[in-house]
Amino acid sequence: MNIIVAKDYKEMSQAASQMIEEQITKKPDAVLGLATGGTPLGTYKELIRSYKEGRADYRFLSTINLDEYVGLDPEHHQSYRYFMNQNFFQFINIDKKNTYIPYGKTEGLEQECRRYEEVIDTVGPPDLQLLGIGENGHIGFNEPGTSFDSETHIVHLTHSTREANARFFESMEDVPTKAITMGIRSIMKSKKIILLASGERKADAICQLIHGEPDEQFPASSLKNHDDLTLIVDEDAYKKVQRKG
Ligand code: GLP
Repeated sequence: MNIIVAKDYKEMSQAASQMIEEQITKKPDAVLGLATGGTPLGTYKELIRSYKEGRADYRFLSTINLDEYVGLDPEHHQSYRYFMNQNFFQFINIDKKNTYIPYGKTEGLEQECRRYEEVIDTVGPPDLQLLGIGENGHIGFNEPGTSFDSETHIVHLTHSTREANARFFESMEDVPTKAITMGIRSIMKSKKIILLASGERKADAICQLIHGEPDEQFPASSLKNHDDLTLIVDEDAYKKVQRKG
């Protein structure tokens, strides 16, 4: 595991965008695994800037997102499809048909899970997967207790995850109770993984990730079995690790 400790959120975002830019330069038709949440927003901003400065070309690139809420239309302002369009895709020259996100508005959820795993296997697996981390160690929407052998599946969101995401919705009742997420095994298929964490809120999770053993009760710990994992964390998220070490 490589660990990069950045001074703050901005430096963390710059370090991540630089690694992604290098990947695109090396392989213009690369497949990027992308994430939502507040954490990668700064990375997307940096990537948009580098695109505008002519340092990256997305024409041949594909992206595969980790997850999507069940029941939200892609046009819904809190859907992850909308998030990606608004915060990244609309600003770069990517072909929208090469951007993959699970479709959460379907009746055939099981079928959608199988279709998506096939996308991962045929379009992907990603050359580089970007990840955030939940306070309880979730990655994508893989909650504690998820099997390390899981592929794309439906999850019932825990109360804590719904609460953490409630800030984006008008009320707690509006937060979906289910989601489609790439499983742990699906995520592990990626050739390279970058996990980002910023702020004190994530300090316990980062401490557990670095010091703990792989354990299904802490989904992010599965990544310790990956041979190309880079953590990019800021000083606040790294605080507890330093105290212990
Ligand atoms: C959501 C997403 C995760 C994300 C997590 C942390 O649950 N499904 O992919 O990593 O939130 O979000 P944030 O980056 O806003 O702290």
